[in-house]
Parts: sequence; C-alpha cells; structure tokens
Amino acid sequence: MKALILVGGFGTRLRPLTLSVPKPLVDFANKPMILHQIEALKAIGVSEVVLAINYQPEVMLNFLKDFEAKLGIKITCSQETEPLGTAGPLALARDKLIDESGEPFFVLNSDVISEYPLKEMIEFHKSHGGEASIMVTKVDEPSKYGVVVMEESTGKVEKFVEKPKLFVGNKINAGIYLLNPSVLDRIQLRPTSIEKEVFPEIAAESKLFAMVLPGFWMDIGQPRDYITGLRLYLDSLRKKSSVKLATGAHVVGNVLIDETATIGEGCLIGPDVAIGPGCVVESGVRLSRCTVMRGVRIKKHACISSSIIGWHSTVGQWARVENMTILGEDVHVSDEIYSNGGVVLPHKEIKASILKPEIVM
Ligand code: GDD
Ligand code: MG
Repeated sequence: MKALILVGGFGTRLRPLTLSVPKPLVDFANKPMILHQIEALKAIGVSEVVLAINYQPEVMLNFLKDFEAKLGIKITCSQETEPLGTAGPLALARDKLIDESGEPFFVLNSDVISEYPLKEMIEFHKSHGGEASIMVTKVDEPSKYGVVVMEESTGKVEKFVEKPKLFVGNKINAGIYLLNPSVLDRIQLRPTSIEKEVFPEIAAESKLFAMVLPGFWMDIGQPRDYITGLRLYLDSLRKKSSVKLATGAHVVGNVLIDETATIGEGCLIGPDVAIGPGCVVESGVRLSRCTVMRGVRIKKHACISSSIIGWHSTVGQWARVENMTILGEDVHVSDEIYSNGGVVLPHKEIKASILKPEIVM
C-alpha cells in the first residue's frame, strides 16, 4: 500500500520555528511531526511514502534518508515547481501512487496529530464501497477547517464546505484520506484544492464517506494548537504506553523527557511538557505546558509556561517565559528577563523584557 503526505505550504503560522526547518520537520513530542505519520503508516503495512513538496526538498530528503533504513520504508519526493495546492500534487504524483494492484492509497496533511486509526479506516473504506473515505472529528471552532455534513448511520457525506463563514456543523475534515485510484481521474495537473474542488464533487455523487475519528486529534500548525496538541498527545500516551513518560518527585502530570537530557536538583516539571535530546535543565527550574527542543539550556530558577523553546536556545537564570512565547532556533534570553508572548526570530539575543505579545526581529 502507498501513501502521500502533503508537505508543501510555507508554515507561516508556525514561524519562527519554520524559519529553520520546513513545518513537517518541526519537533513535536521530541520527534519531527512527519515521523509520527510515517511511523503510523509503516505500522499498518504501507511500503512507500511519497512526500509532495514544493520547497526545500533536499532538506527534507537528507533528513529522512536515515529513517528510510531505520523504519524499513521507501520515502520518495514528488516536487512541484509551483505550489499545486492540496489536490494538484496528487495528479503530479499519479504514477507513483497507482500500481497494478488498483489498491486505494492514503493521503495525509502533514500538520495533524492523532492516534491514526488507519487500520479501522481501511475496514471502513471496504465496507461502504464508495470512492473516497475521509476521517472527521468534532471541534468547537469549525470555521477554520473543512466542515462535513454526513448521514450519521452510513457516514455518507452530504456536504463538504471548506472554511465556512456560516455554521454548517461541527464535524470537520481531519486531513486523513483513503482514496481509490479513480479519484486521480478527477484531478487536473494545476493548482487546485481537494477540499474546494474534489471532495464537494465526489460528495455530490454520493461516493464520499466519512468516519468519525476515535481518540484525539489536533492540527498543530499554529502555536496555541501545538501546545494543546501536546497535552492531548501526552494524555493518550499515558493511556497507551505510560512507561515512556517521566516519573519522580519533580514531575507533575504528563511529561516526556529524552533520555539524553539532564535535569537539575529541585526542579518542578509538568504538566504537559516535552524536553528534547541533549537539553540541560539546571536546578530549581519550573516548566509547565511547554516544549523544549533539542540542545536547549535552561538556567537556574527560570520559569517557563505555555511556550515553545526552539532548538539550541538558552533561557537565563530567574527568567520568566510565558503566554505563548515562541523562541526560534538559537535564541538567547538573558538572566532575569520576562517574556510575555514574545515571538523571537532565530539567532537573537534578548536583553530587555518583552512585556506584551509581539514579534522580535
Ligand atoms: N505539496 C503541497 N503543495 N502541499 C501543500 C500545498 C501545496 O501547494 N498547500 C498546502 N499544502 C499542505 C500543507 O503542508 C498541509 O500539510 C496540508 O497541505 C493542508 O494545508 P494547510 O495550509 O495546513 O491547510 P489548513 O490547515 O488551513 O486546512 C486543511 O487542514 C484542515 C485540518 O487540519 C484542510 O484540509 C481542512 O479541510 C482541514 O479541516
Ligand atoms: Mg493545517
């Protein structure tokens, strides 16, 4: 079985992290977002993943080459010369997706995190006999997603409306599809949207079916959702394999600490924290609801909450970093600084407090 992951887009909503790497390579719970997906695909027997890419393919491929061997899965690139949207890339990769077997293939948005019930999805797809299956989930704020109106008993999609201005329903497209090869005949090789042009057409012919996703789901392409996503992910990890979570007197709630990170005396860490490889957390540090990426140093008595600390940054002693502060790669926050929602571009030194949410260039 094959799969295509949509990895294009510039990831502007996740800047400054995406100034250093393409969005799918931004770490989430101590590994690049896209690895969560590739591992899930491998687990259900997918043999080849095609990355639909529109910029920096070398960065992506160099990085994934290691994992091809480690995971035993073939990873190839299908590169656009202009952004082809969410459907055009499927037409471009047509030859890679179709083989003699005539099997359906998976398509995934690269910025969603969930339990990936892909086996269940294959069963569902076989059971309805339609042309395409999509996974849906319920959210409180449907207007920023693709909304699906479906027949509850069968899953038949009656309507698909991308980013509706008026309320149509609260079940939304989770960005995980299983498509028959015939769907490719509906897509032309030009910039085109699967959500606006392809799904509404298949739905109108009563051949689009939706399955409600069991378990958690989050689009982690924006900082606030990324932080919420980590909470949901760690909750689910607690249920499925709690041995991966940290334990000890200094840990509160769900915390993931890479084995190569060191934690000083008298820290209080959690809930909902991920600390990446090689991080050094000095004594007396307080961390909650945050991600600390690879190679970061947090000095004594610093306090970080609801924030993301990018790769190889440092946070000075007694500093307070909070309220959706996002530090890009290699940012250095001096001692005793306060950051209230600062969004800091890579390679900066912060010597004065950031009193209100703002971008620091
Ligand atoms: N190759 C390629 N080329 N990929 C692209 C392009 C492109 O031109 N444009 C976007 N993508 C990729 C993005 O990288 C992402 O993985 C996926 O397509 C969806 O694009 P987003 O920009 O993240 O869309 P969204 O989050 O606003 O909405 C989409 O996802 C929602 C769920 O998270 C839609 O599919 C919605 O219907 C859905 O509810
Ligand atoms: Mg998205």
